[in-house]
Amino acid sequence: MQTGWLWLSAFAAVAALAGGAQGQGLSREFYNATCPALQAVVRRGVARAVRREPRMGASILRLFFHDCFVNGCDASVLLDDVPGNFTGEKNAGPNANSLRGYEVIDAIKAQVEASCNATVSCADILALAARDAVNLLGGPSWTVPLGRRDTRNTSAGAANTNLPPPDAGLPTLLSMFRAKGLDARDLTALSGAHTVGRARCAVFRSHIYNDSAADTAFAAGLRASVCPAAGGDGNLAPLEPQAPDAFDNGYFRDLVARRVLLRSDQALYGAGNGTTDGLVRAYAANGTAFAADFAAAMVRLGGLAPASGSGGEVRLNCRRVN
Ligand code: HEM
Ligand SMILES: *[C@@H]1O[C@H](CO)[C@@H](O)[C@H](O)[C@H]1NC(C)=O
Ligand SMILES: *[C@@H]1O[C@H](CO)[C@@H](O)[C@H](O)[C@H]1NC(C)=O
Ligand SMILES: *[C@@H]1O[C@H](CO)[C@@H](O)[C@H](O)[C@H]1NC(C)=O
Ligand SMILES: *[C@@H]1O[C@H](CO)[C@@H](O)[C@H](O)[C@H]1NC(C)=O
Ligand SMILES: *[C@@H]1O[C@H](CO)[C@@H](O)[C@H](O)[C@H]1NC(C)=O
Ligand SMILES: *[C@@H]1O[C@H](CO)[C@@H](O)[C@H](O)[C@H]1NC(C)=O
Ligand SMILES: *[C@@H]1O[C@H](CO)[C@@H](O)[C@H](O)[C@H]1NC(C)=O
Repeated sequence: MQTGWLWLSAFAAVAALAGGAQGQGLSREFYNATCPALQAVVRRGVARAVRREPRMGASILRLFFHDCFVNGCDASVLLDDVPGNFTGEKNAGPNANSLRGYEVIDAIKAQVEASCNATVSCADILALAARDAVNLLGGPSWTVPLGRRDTRNTSAGAANTNLPPPDAGLPTLLSMFRAKGLDARDLTALSGAHTVGRARCAVFRSHIYNDSAADTAFAAGLRASVCPAAGGDGNLAPLEPQAPDAFDNGYFRDLVARRVLLRSDQALYGAGNGTTDGLVRAYAANGTAFAADFAAAMVRLGGLAPASGSGGEVRLNCRRVN
């Protein structure tokens, strides 16, 4: 068994029906009067975590993606399970033993509460932290629209059906992103997040053992070093080996060279779609173009609104409802 949610590719069409409501009246000045220290506090917290462990920048960026793709950016992913009452997203297939960085968000939330108690949502903290993580790893910065509310409910099932699996082909990726109002350009640019961070053998084994699309020497090297045919599921490899902790356009050069870990990555290039092939080539040749498109796509990702609208609350502790 490779991962727990591979079968869910078939549900992409269902996800498409759920729609991706965008724009919930967010504003860049939302906390200017009520929490003027917010952005400095978040940046300091992310900087501390990234200094301690550069990979943490990647982990925080992924947390934000996994929050926003499941019922919008509402800090749903941060809720701890409550045995006997509530099974949230943390132990869903795409997240269990994989998603990390929760304690970094907790630490930042505590600092924010110390400056402005009961004012700033966990969802907004995560949106700012993801922006700062990218920038601190050498990537672009952008203005983050604010004013999100934290949800009081979510489910593991929602994470399983909304998050794309690593064996997805291009049609599945395109339809899962389209379900959120994101197009091929957004998909390609946002996938550039895989220019940082690590992945487990369990999620890239099928690509390096079975896919003719992978560069032969690259795949053989990984099979021999880090990802045996059986066992070693948790062994890590960098998603972008040339500069694993630098937010640059190296990922797109790897795609052209067919030296990437995930089947879902390679699906963007050389799978017969001229649109994504062209974008990959453009980003590989021009890091500025990638940075600009990535920043714009992150704002759109951050605009995914909870289907339930503007209810919710400002959580005092990101791990549980008030
Ligand atoms: C397009 C569909 C995507 C798929 C199928 C996918 C899948 C994955 C998988 C399987 C991993 C490794 C998990 C593990 O080994 O436990 C991973 C890591 C990562 N993903 Fe994605 N991902 C996608 C898109 C994105 C997007 C849009 C972002 C952010 C904008 C993102 C950010 C990351 C980061 C930064 C990591 C490394 C995390 C770390 O080192 O802790 N991914 N992704
Ligand atoms: C609101 O705060 C942001 C971030 O600190 C700052 O860049 C912006 O200029 C402020 N806007 C106003 C109208 O004060
Ligand atoms: C179960 O969760 C709901 C929603 O958070 C909460 O209102 C309720 O009090 C919880 N019940 C128990 C027994 O913890
Ligand atoms: C923060 O606000 C909450 C809700 O108003 C209150 O229960 C809590 O005691 C406050 N904490 C601090 C440290 O002021
Ligand atoms: C939370 O969501 C589940 C699944 O959709 C639902 O059955 C439950 O009633 C919800 N609980 C609350 C407190 O809204
Ligand atoms: C490779 O494909 C074969 C045939 O579909 C399958 O039996 C095998 O489990 C796959 N191996 C990996 C590592 O995915
Ligand atoms: C490539 O993807 C784009 C964007 O979804 C789509 O419009 C186009 O039809 C696809 N082309 C092929 C050849 O699949
Ligand atoms: C790279 O992309 C940027 C932003 O789209 C553009 O302004 C610039 O002209 C491009 N540079 C080259 C060498 O094509």
